[in-house]
Amino acid sequence: MWQVVEELTSCCWLEECDQTHYKRIKKILPLKRGVEEVKVLKTLNGIQGTPSLLSYHVEENHIVFYMSYFEGKALDVVSLETKQAMEVFGRGLKILSHIHARGIWHRDLCPRHILIDGDNNIMIIDFGAATPRQAKDEISGTLAFAAPEVVFNPKQFSDSSDLFAYAKSFYTRLTSELAVKRPEVLDLFLRGMVLDPEKRFPSALVYMQYFHKCDSWYNNVKDI
Ligand SMILES: Nc1ncnc2c1ncn2[C@@H]1O[C@H](COP(=O)(O)OP(=O)(O)O)[C@@H](O)[C@H]1O
Ligand SMILES: [Mg+2]
Repeated sequence: MWQVVEELTSCCWLEECDQTHYKRIKKILPLKRGVEEVKVLKTLNGIQGTPSLLSYHVEENHIVFYMSYFEGKALDVVSLETKQAMEVFGRGLKILSHIHARGIWHRDLCPRHILIDGDNNIMIIDFGAATPRQAKDEISGTLAFAAPEVVFNPKQFSDSSDLFAYAKSFYTRLTSELAVKRPEVLDLFLRGMVLDPEKRFPSALVYMQYFHKCDSWYNNVKDI
């Protein structure tokens, strides 16, 4: 039997199995919205670092679906050393490159939707605003992390708009503590936050190449 352990939001619960202690996430959404999220999760099936869709069914005019649970903390509350943040950032870029390669934009990357565990593994969650890569008229997601081109014209969303929100999530986390001993390291994140999308990294893969170029420098800097 599954028991609710925690109500996470008004439509999302953490459940645990009595016998196995296995945990899962349950989400209930109105049919139209829920079907979109389930479709996206199916498209992402098998990408490590994204929730696995376990099962789903329709109840009246709602869809109930279950996802794998990731035991970690959100980027805005996890305690993180700068060097560790860099490592996690690189891992997340790889996940984003896989998400984009499947033709999906997340559209709501923010610290709450980036989970990190004690081994620096990362999971990107909440594909409720995600869509196939095509123009959408309205803005969705969390405005504080939205790329400027999307705020002014949601139709201009591109891979690099997801990258902006992703980089800003880490930049915000690191700079909120005023503990960055070597501000140079912030360059890695600021480069993802260039205002003009034409001058930003065009894809997660290109951003990853830059990350790897910097990697040896970060590894040699003792005091960050
Ligand atoms: N796969 C998961 N593993 C662990 N926690 C999760 C997972 N999915 C969601 N959560 C938790 O539940 C919260 C709400 O989930 P989310 O998908 O963001 O729902 P909503 O659409 O209500 O924002 C998240 O902020 C996170 O704390
Ligand atoms: Mg959410």
